[in-house]
Amino acid sequence: MFEDYKSFIDDELQKNIHQLSDNGSILARAIHYSTLLGGKRIRPILVLLSAESFGVSKEQAIIPACSVELIHAYSLIHDDLPSMDDDDLRRGQATCHRAFDEATAILAGDALQAMAFELLTQDSNIPPNNRLQMIQALSRACGAKGMVLGQSIDFESVGRHLSLEQLENMHKHKTGALIEASILLGALCSHTSISFAEETALKKYAQAIGLAFQVQDDILDIVSDTQTLGKTQGADAALNKPTYPALLGLDGARSKLMSLHEEALNSLNNLPDRDTSKLEKISHFIVQRSL
Ligand code: IPE
Ligand code: IPE
Ligand code: MG
Ligand code: MG
Ligand code: MG
Repeated sequence: MFEDYKSFIDDELQKNIHQLSDNGSILARAIHYSTLLGGKRIRPILVLLSAESFGVSKEQAIIPACSVELIHAYSLIHDDLPSMDDDDLRRGQATCHRAFDEATAILAGDALQAMAFELLTQDSNIPPNNRLQMIQALSRACGAKGMVLGQSIDFESVGRHLSLEQLENMHKHKTGALIEASILLGALCSHTSISFAEETALKKYAQAIGLAFQVQDDILDIVSDTQTLGKTQGADAALNKPTYPALLGLDGARSKLMSLHEEALNSLNNLPDRDTSKLEKISHFIVQRSL
C-alpha cells in the first residue's frame, strides 16, 4: 500500500537532488548512487502519512519528506565507512566508499546533510515560521544530542556490556530521533493548530515506532540473509555490537518489539479527531518487515 508513496518520493528526490547538485561531478554521481538506488523510504513516507493525518496533501509535504531522506542517506554512507561499521554492501550494491573512494563517500555525506537544510529553506508551501521550526527539529534530531550522539554511543559501546536502559538510550538517539523528527515535520506541514494533547500523543507514537524500527533492524541482522537485506547479515555480531537480541535473546527482543507496537497503537487512540489508519498500518509494517 505504500508503493505509490515510494514512487512519488523517488521522483521528487531525483528532481531535487538534480537541482541542488553540480551534475556531472564525481560528487553528484556518488550522491545519486547512494540516495536514488534503493531504500524503503520509510522516513519520508512517515512525513507524508503524518501530514495526511492532519489534512495536508502529500504534495504539500514532499519537500520536508525529501529532506529527511537526504539526512538518512548521509547517515548510511557514513555508518558504512571503514572507520565506522566498515560495510561493503548497502541497498544491494557496493557501499559508497567501495563504489567510489573513501574521501568521496565522506564528502557525499557532508553534501547531503547541507542539501537537506537547503531544500527545507526553499519550501514555499510551508509558512516561514513552520519552516524554521522544521529546521530546528531536524537539526536537533541529527545533531550532537540526536542521531550523531547515538552513533557515537554505538562506537563507544562496542565490546562493552550495556544495561537495557543504556541500550535503549543509544537506539533512541541513533535511529529514534530521525523517525520522531519525520512525524513532527509532517505535523508541522499543517496550517491549522495542533493541540498539546495531540502533540504529546504523536510524540509517544513516534518514539515507540522509532525504537521499534531499530529493534527490528537488530533482529533482522540475525534472522535474515544478505540477499534479502541488501546489506551484510551478521554484521552486528561480527563487530560485537550491543543490540537487543544480544542483550535479551531473540525472543526477548521480539516481545520488546511487540510491546512497542502496542504502545504506538495506544498512542494513536489519543488522536480521536484525526485519521490515523495509515499510521497504524505503518507501525504494523515496521514490526513485521523482512528487509
Ligand atoms: C537502516 O535504515 C539503518 C537504520 C537506522 C536501522 P533503513 O532500514 O530505513 O534503510 P533503507 O533506507 O531502507 O536502506
Ligand atoms: C545505523 O544503525 C544507524 C544510523 C545510520 C544512524 P546500523 O549500523 O544498525 O544500520 P545498518 O544495519 O548498518 O543499516
Ligand atoms: Mg552502525
Ligand atoms: Mg551499520
Ligand atoms: Mg543494523
